[in-house]
Amino acid sequence: MRILIINGPNLDILGKRETKIYGTMTMSDIEKRLKEKFSKVNMEFYQSNCEGAIIDALHKALDDSTDGVVLNPGAFTHYSYAIRDAVAALKAPVIEVHLSNVNGREEFRRESVIAPVCKGVIAGFGVRGYELAIELIIDQG
Ligand code: DQA
Repeated sequence: MRILIINGPNLDILGKRETKIYGTMTMSDIEKRLKEKFSKVNMEFYQSNCEGAIIDALHKALDDSTDGVVLNPGAFTHYSYAIRDAVAALKAPVIEVHLSNVNGREEFRRESVIAPVCKGVIAGFGVRGYELAIELIIDQG
């Protein structure tokens, strides 16, 4: 079982960034927690602030043995047709995850251009969202 976990822009500054919304856990804390909880799963973590780098990371799931992708595209969620197309090209299921409840925030966050080509979306449950997405990929695999 191989799962790729991709995080987009500004998720590298978690813990310092709008802590009332995103909490105080850093991305390293999240990765540590997931590695502890899913110690038997081969997980690869990737974060970038650049759209093209995220697309390249998604392309890696095209021809390797990736069983599923957990993707938090950050603000790209709301406008990146290029990331959407990369997700649509994959056979492996992609689950979109958001730490915050994007539906309860600003109007522009309510639209995801990527969600329609994902298996599903989990939003508003903080780090638990990543855990649930990994569990769902494991259950389906
Ligand atoms: C986010 C929600 C996005 O709207 C925002 O731009 C982010 C983080 C989340 O995890 O809640 O950067 O993806």
